[in-house]
Amino acid sequence: MAKEKTLEDLFHDTLKDIYYAERKILKTLPKMAKAAQSEDLKAAFEKHRGETEGHVERLQKVFEILGKRAQGKTCDAIEGIVAEGEEIIDEFKGTPALDAGLISSAQAVEHYEMTRYGTLKRWAEVLGMEEAARLLGDTLDEESATDEALTGLADASINDIAKAA
Ligand SMILES: [Fe+2]
Ligand SMILES: [Fe+2]
Repeated sequence: MAKEKTLEDLFHDTLKDIYYAERKILKTLPKMAKAAQSEDLKAAFEKHRGETEGHVERLQKVFEILGKRAQGKTCDAIEGIVAEGEEIIDEFKGTPALDAGLISSAQAVEHYEMTRYGTLKRWAEVLGMEEAARLLGDTLDEESATDEALTGLADASINDIAKAA
């Protein structure tokens, strides 16, 4: 008979999913920064690349707390979101709408991360892993702040530039 699976197994599986996703994002953000036309948007992507290194390190600590080896598991969701972003870069390259498209892709990434960290933080609390919950919550706050900063850039000028074309 199959071994009973518990919330701890689910937590470990989801941790592997977001670990894979964060490492994929780490490779993708420089491409987005390179593609961005606005200097502010470039800077926002570069800043978040640095934060993302910290997200990977926090996840490694959470694996340690769990007593497991840090290991990723292919995340089809992030592969799909990143592929759609690459399509936008290809299809809107050289046009005034490119940056608005890059922001939309980046926000899809941030929201994916926010659902994962929101769930993992809650599960860590339920499982009594306070330190893990704190680490996951710190990253959740940075993802959420990044999402808001991107909305700010879109509102400040990038949507208008795209629209005026
Ligand atoms: Fe992240
Ligand atoms: Fe992020």
